[in-house]
Amino acid sequence: GKGIAVFTSGGDSQGMNAAVRAVVRMGIYLGCKVYFIREGYQGMVDGGENIMEANWSSVSCIIHKGGTIIGSARCKDFREKAGRLKAAKNLVQRGITNLVVIGGDGSLTGADLFRQEWGTLLDELLKTNEITAEQRDKCKTLQIAGLVGSIDNDFCGTDMTIGTDSALHRIIEAVDCIVSTAYSHQRTFIMEVMGRHCGYLALVAALTSEADYVFIPESPPPEDWQSKLCEKLEQERSVGQRLNIIIVSEGAIDRNGDPITAEQIRKVVVDNLNQDTRITVLGHVQRGGNPSAFDRVLGCRMGAEAVMALMEANENTEPCVISLDGNQAVRLPLMECVKQTKAVAQALADKQWDKAVQLRGKS
Ligand code: F6P
Repeated sequence: GKGIAVFTSGGDSQGMNAAVRAVVRMGIYLGCKVYFIREGYQGMVDGGENIMEANWSSVSCIIHKGGTIIGSARCKDFREKAGRLKAAKNLVQRGITNLVVIGGDGSLTGADLFRQEWGTLLDELLKTNEITAEQRDKCKTLQIAGLVGSIDNDFCGTDMTIGTDSALHRIIEAVDCIVSTAYSHQRTFIMEVMGRHCGYLALVAALTSEADYVFIPESPPPEDWQSKLCEKLEQERSVGQRLNIIIVSEGAIDRNGDPITAEQIRKVVVDNLNQDTRITVLGHVQRGGNPSAFDRVLGCRMGAEAVMALMEANENTEPCVISLDGNQAVRLPLMECVKQTKAVAQALADKQWDKAVQLRGKS
């Protein structure tokens, strides 16, 4: 059978374990040898016990766990050619020619570059006698299938990334908790949520928690946001509301592209309205805890589809990313999606908000 390895890379997210489990079990079911690579690209470079064959029971009892049981890391060594040579050798020695990468756009781009360079790496390894001609011929092409694991939902081409739904559950629980104490003391709370340059978590959290105001990177507020915000808060209080909730995305910016921080917002509220105001920064709580049912199902479906894509691939197949389109798992060209995701980041940096939203499309 084919050799497949699965690894998780970059920031973790809930549901990654469900994906790992599905890759292992679907792979074994289809007669492949499936390997875990621990600690992301670092484990691929270091080899040894970091690359271990998985069996059916090594993924029992993990579907409900947050994080990733095989570890994740950001890896400097893989950026160097020497590191990639070691990684290639470790894979070839085990007959691994298929990779399932679970991570964000950086991790997926790394995999694509590795694939492009694969032939050259193998030739070099042969020249230095680190692999045999037979090994090189057996492992001529490297196939890649990507899964997007990220709480940010910032990847173009998929409706949801693995982890976003669970992170939203964490956020909503936290806002609900805050609301009860805010009510007692008639306070205003500013809650900062993650998402990097993507406002999805903030926007959906605001919608589903009845927040009064939200700040996101893709739609900077008008120049006079301070007075607009105060008007809105006052108006809510004037009709009997005892509290206000403001959600701010960690990447929120104003129309000049400068950050809008929770502290800045607090100052505006206190200076103008004299409201008793507190800040809650949710931080990594959002990335922790058990995956929701949605993320478990998403991880399972994406993982299984990735293995099927690899099984059907030949040397002319381009790397794919498994995406959710409506309720369908689909295969899209990996690098086109990465390119578009990068174009969104560029449009935001260029203050072309409409273009960014348009490019982001369905995600
Ligand atoms: O990409 C996921 C994410 O949680 C972002 O929302 C956040 O900006 C970042 O990772 C935090 O990174 P770290 O875990 O390295 O602090």
